[in-house]
Amino acid sequence: MTILVTGATGTVGRRVVDELLQRGQKVRALTRNALHENLPAGVEVVEGDLSDPSTLAAALDGVSGMHLMTTGAQYTPLQTGPEIVELATKAGVRKVTVLWSGEKGAVEQAVEASNLDWTFLQPVEFMGNSRKWADSIRSEGLVRDMLGSALNASVHEADIGRVAAVALTEEGHAGKEYLLTGPEAITVQDKVRIIGEAIGRDLRFVEVSIDEEREQMRKMGVQADVIEYVIDWNLNPPKMAYTVVSTVEEVIGQPAQTFAEWAEEHAHCFLGQT
Ligand SMILES: NC(=O)c1ccc[n+]([C@@H]2O[C@H](COP(=O)([O-])OP(=O)(O)OC[C@H]3O[C@@H](n4cnc5c(N)ncnc54)[C@H](OP(=O)(O)O)[C@@H]3O)[C@@H](O)[C@H]2O)c1
Repeated sequence: MTILVTGATGTVGRRVVDELLQRGQKVRALTRNALHENLPAGVEVVEGDLSDPSTLAAALDGVSGMHLMTTGAQYTPLQTGPEIVELATKAGVRKVTVLWSGEKGAVEQAVEASNLDWTFLQPVEFMGNSRKWADSIRSEGLVRDMLGSALNASVHEADIGRVAAVALTEEGHAGKEYLLTGPEAITVQDKVRIIGEAIGRDLRFVEVSIDEEREQMRKMGVQADVIEYVIDWNLNPPKMAYTVVSTVEEVIGQPAQTFAEWAEEHAHCFLGQT
């Protein structure tokens, strides 16, 4: 049977694709623009837009499981949850993993109310967010960010992919809400030091004010309400943001990956011109 991965061209979805392929699953990837995808051989690529359910029939045809995004462009919560759930149910989908966006919006609510065997994946923060520092590390050997001593238990996106693949291909995960963290809570400054160790460079950390961070994000093209959400989340982090839980290890049967492992794997992103 085929498993449909939405968000397959993105940070987490691509990891879900890779893990499912490793398990010998038939994978179909959803993208809004097949011309821009860069998915591995063996993946069936189908165009469709989650914000327009009328485009999803081909993507859902013959699908038994689905990994589902809950946000669309610019991380705006999708309002099409009920239609997506109805189409998926009619198509015969049974298992669904849902990548939550921090709150239960229209997609999460519709899935929760359905007869689908859903599993919610609730990562606190992706280790991959640190890629936003790549430009200044490459060009200046430094990181400008706010709240350098704030602790965070971010999770490797590959581990989210592994948990999703297990939930989509094995029994015993229906109705579960999996909070996903890495194996340690570390600070922003720790992360900068660890990336420095991975690339063999002493990196400087420059703590910026909240207003400066707001401006940095604005220049990166982040939408105003998303900026405010991120800033508020960082100023008032929920306890789960810095509390390590063992869900990844319990589900996949191996320890969650450390930030040092993430940094080694992504060293190429931070190497370049000096
Ligand atoms: N960053 C974090 O720390 C964090 C923590 C917890 C939860 N989250 C949640 O994780 C999600 C982002 O995941 P990510 O970082 O893996 O994504 P990403 O790398 O930003 O990529 C976005 C993906 O969503 C797809 N997409 C966007 N709008 C779509 C639409 N209307 N229809 C179909 N596909 C659409 C894109 O596909 P195409 O462009 O190919 O169409 C792309 O694959 C968000 O919901 C966010 O709230 C993030």
